[in-house]
Amino acid sequence: MSRSALEAFRPLVDDWDAFVAALERPEPTTLRVNRLRTDVATVRTALEAEGFQVEGVADQPWFLRIVDGPRNVSDTFGHWAGWFYIQQASTGVAADLLGARSGERILDLCAAPGGKTLHLAETMEGRGTVVAAEVNEGRIRALLGNVYRLGTPNVLVISGDGREFPTGATFDRVLVDVPCSAQGTLRKKGKLPTRSKGFMKKVTRAQERLLRRAIEVTRPGGVVLYVTCTFGPEENEAVVSRVLSDAPVDVEPLDLAVPHAPGVTAWQGEVFDARVAAAARIYPHHLDSGGLFLCRLRKAGAGEPEGWSAVPRVYPGDAPDPPADDDVAATLALLESHYGVARDAFAGHDWMRRGSNLWLHGLDRWPIDAWEPGGHWRMVALGLRAVDLSGDGPPRPTNDLLQWLDQRVRNHRLDLSPRVWRDLLDGRLVEVPGVDRGHRALGLEGPAGSHVVGWGFVREGRLLEHIPRGRRKWLRNVVEVDAGAE
Ligand SMILES: C[S@@+](CC[C@H](N)C(=O)[O-])C[C@H]1O[C@@H](n2cnc3c(N)ncnc32)[C@H](O)[C@@H]1O
Repeated sequence: MSRSALEAFRPLVDDWDAFVAALERPEPTTLRVNRLRTDVATVRTALEAEGFQVEGVADQPWFLRIVDGPRNVSDTFGHWAGWFYIQQASTGVAADLLGARSGERILDLCAAPGGKTLHLAETMEGRGTVVAAEVNEGRIRALLGNVYRLGTPNVLVISGDGREFPTGATFDRVLVDVPCSAQGTLRKKGKLPTRSKGFMKKVTRAQERLLRRAIEVTRPGGVVLYVTCTFGPEENEAVVSRVLSDAPVDVEPLDLAVPHAPGVTAWQGEVFDARVAAAARIYPHHLDSGGLFLCRLRKAGAGEPEGWSAVPRVYPGDAPDPPADDDVAATLALLESHYGVARDAFAGHDWMRRGSNLWLHGLDRWPIDAWEPGGHWRMVALGLRAVDLSGDGPPRPTNDLLQWLDQRVRNHRLDLSPRVWRDLLDGRLVEVPGVDRGHRALGLEGPAGSHVVGWGFVREGRLLEHIPRGRRKWLRNVVEVDAGAE
């Protein structure tokens, strides 16, 4: 990596030699444990049983650092099954600094691929609402994959331009993790991204508009956290400083336990609002991770979020209205009679029918009724796509629902070793003599017991799996290693 390209940042950085030394060594892989599904000890034990050497991360109790391991940690069962999210330790501070509480209404205005969205949902213990907005359709697919994989029913995914985010409803807290020139990720990418003047003009304008819209949709007294993963003050303090000049917000000090440097108040002849000194700059040497800028703003006044209404059982605009209550009753009856799932497995959750699917979600209220129909937004997902109602047969629980239910699936379940899974995924004949024809939940046996990964069908003593195509190849990699160890 060229040192000369970095020299521009020398006046900003608190410990230049440590900064450069960090950039010149590989970045350790860190992961955040998904507390909605498991706990740190279970993940640690499972990884150690697979030959990984793992340690904790100071001041970040939900993070683990991979010290050494036999393979990429992304090809482990825990990752495939959503027990953890591979995430830079530096970015792990954002959810805590936003301060989201259980039951609150939160907006993540630039959400994909979803590391912070999912961290927020976990911090809220799955209660309340996280609206995850994203403009890029390709990245929305990655976001959805992560929401389903981690099994997070409190996330409402919206496609749309955050600069035009609908204004009808207000939020307790808004995270605005803006697109940026990503200089803080150079350690991962190996070089400093080069950005034209045109790009910088465009991106800083977008950052300012996103921050202004974030403030607009925050309730009086609510919190906005502005985040970038870049070092240049033009995308950080300069943007916040311009907004502070006329927006109804003040900068709040950050109670940040991890090492960091303060915001800078002047840069290349430009002087910023002195309040931006209360922002935080995390450099790669601080956490042996990436770079991050964070500034927390408090909106003037006091008030409650407005514009929220009860979530309907049928998606508005679906015509003719499908009989959602009958579908829910049939689904609950099937899950209970066939899979032995007790009805209290869904306590605190509700269902919504949209088209030929039933969605399982944990929202008590939603903002959508307050938004202008046909505006710059589209609902993509509400919690988990849980049941397929297409066709004339009974409701079909999806792989995501069965995986979410996991140990609550007690009947019609086949727990299979990695070797049998390898055969199944390779399309080889897997015989299950004496097993009746019909749907089965399929478990994968591993060091932490057997866990449901999806569904299959038994016909004439032969088992067929129905893992979605997009996740099958990945599961095949996971079971390959474990099958070899059997
Ligand atoms: C820094 S990334 C967000 C990372 C994410 N918060 C996480 O923790 O995984 C910025 C995201 O903003 C999205 N984006 C860019 N312009 C946007 C806009 N106008 N509205 C909404 N999202 C936008 C990008 O596609 C990108 O996914």
